[in-house]
Amino acid sequence: MDQFQLGAKIFMGGGLDDLLAGRRKVLIVSDRFLVDSGKVSYVADAATRAGAEHRVFSDVQADPDIATVTAGVGLLLEFQPDAVVAFGGGSAIDAAKAILFFSAKQQDVRDVLFAAVPTTSGTGSEVSRFAVITDREKEIKYPLVDDKLLPNAAVLDPVLTVSVPPVVTADTGIDVFTHAVEAFVSTAHTDFSDAAAEKAIKLAYHNLLEAYRAPDNLEARQKMHNASCLAGIAFSNSGLGLNHGMAHALGAHFHISHGRANGILLPYVMSFNAGCIDGLTPTAKRYAQISRLLRLDSSSVRQSALQLIRTIRSSMDKLSMPSTIKDAGVLQAEFEADVEAMAADALADRCTATNPRPCTKEDIVRIYRRAYSGKLF
Ligand SMILES: NC(=O)c1ccc[n+]([C@@H]2O[C@H](COP(=O)([O-])OP(=O)(O)OC[C@H]3O[C@@H](n4cnc5c(N)ncnc54)[C@H](O)[C@@H]3O)[C@@H](O)[C@H]2O)c1
Ligand SMILES: [Zn+2]
Repeated sequence: MDQFQLGAKIFMGGGLDDLLAGRRKVLIVSDRFLVDSGKVSYVADAATRAGAEHRVFSDVQADPDIATVTAGVGLLLEFQPDAVVAFGGGSAIDAAKAILFFSAKQQDVRDVLFAAVPTTSGTGSEVSRFAVITDREKEIKYPLVDDKLLPNAAVLDPVLTVSVPPVVTADTGIDVFTHAVEAFVSTAHTDFSDAAAEKAIKLAYHNLLEAYRAPDNLEARQKMHNASCLAGIAFSNSGLGLNHGMAHALGAHFHISHGRANGILLPYVMSFNAGCIDGLTPTAKRYAQISRLLRLDSSSVRQSALQLIRTIRSSMDKLSMPSTIKDAGVLQAEFEADVEAMAADALADRCTATNPRPCTKEDIVRIYRRAYSGKLF
């Protein structure tokens, strides 16, 4: 039996004033940069206009960890808000999700409004039932997957993303593309998740480079914001795949940003999934469908899938992103020391479960090594 769930109510270009009307206490979960730069006033001023008191939890760091979540739970239990607003990239939104999730184990939070306001166009966390929490000691990123993590509302205001620096625009934009591609080929994809994934793929393909080159182009920013959210809707329903499983392990071991880790791995994981080296799989056909969608297709399934993989690689060059783990600054000795452990973590990662091609730990070690050296085929 297939399912498709519609979760958060999506507001485009504003909506926070309506959402906060009648609320008395608003807890804002954000990161240090967004607070220190004053951007958080987007939420704080809305709370004030609603006549609500607010507190800001600004301790979210990139890839939030267990200690951050614990501190946030402490603040929530003390402040007793009737609304929580996550304001930031995936890190702030995931932290807020986990804070509410674990607070719910100690008190009833069902009446607390949970709104997410993304300030990057990347994770789609504002509409997903995923939250990724890092255990720094064990060097593992754990994706929590639960309906209870879904925000009640998402506010998509592309104006907020204009200040995102090009390097973050590139990393987060490739994350969007990876979400949509993995959702499209996932073992749990449906016509419904395909519809969201296809639109996200088209929007990201046609707008990412422009948003990177011209940060002020509001139309490109808006399209990327929509792409991010649509990809989130797709993968929240269909799940992701091996690329995210491997990216979580790579990011946790070598502190490479989430989107960048995904982008580096994407051509290598796609090559494995399509069977480019050892015999075409049915997934090659799905990649060929994406090629057709982007008008990159050629006469054969193999060539169409290859063309998509090559296009992703050349887009990464245009975005000045490293195309290998080595180019991301990881020393070979350190990589080799960790590669087996990373492969074990990637295999156990929840995202890997919906990968279209079954894989072993040895397969994953091979893919990591190819992604290290740049040997695509
Ligand atoms: N829950 C999910 O569904 C999901 C999906 C994918 C990734 N993730 C997780 O999300 C996290 C990554 O999120 P991200 O890629 O959005 O990055 P991020 O939230 O870590 O933010 C990256 C950087 O951009 C800055 N920034 C954010 N908005 C800005 C703005 N408007 N202007 C200028 N700078 C801004 C932040 O301060 C930070 O320094 C990772 O932990 C990843 O594992 C979650
Ligand atoms: Zn991602």
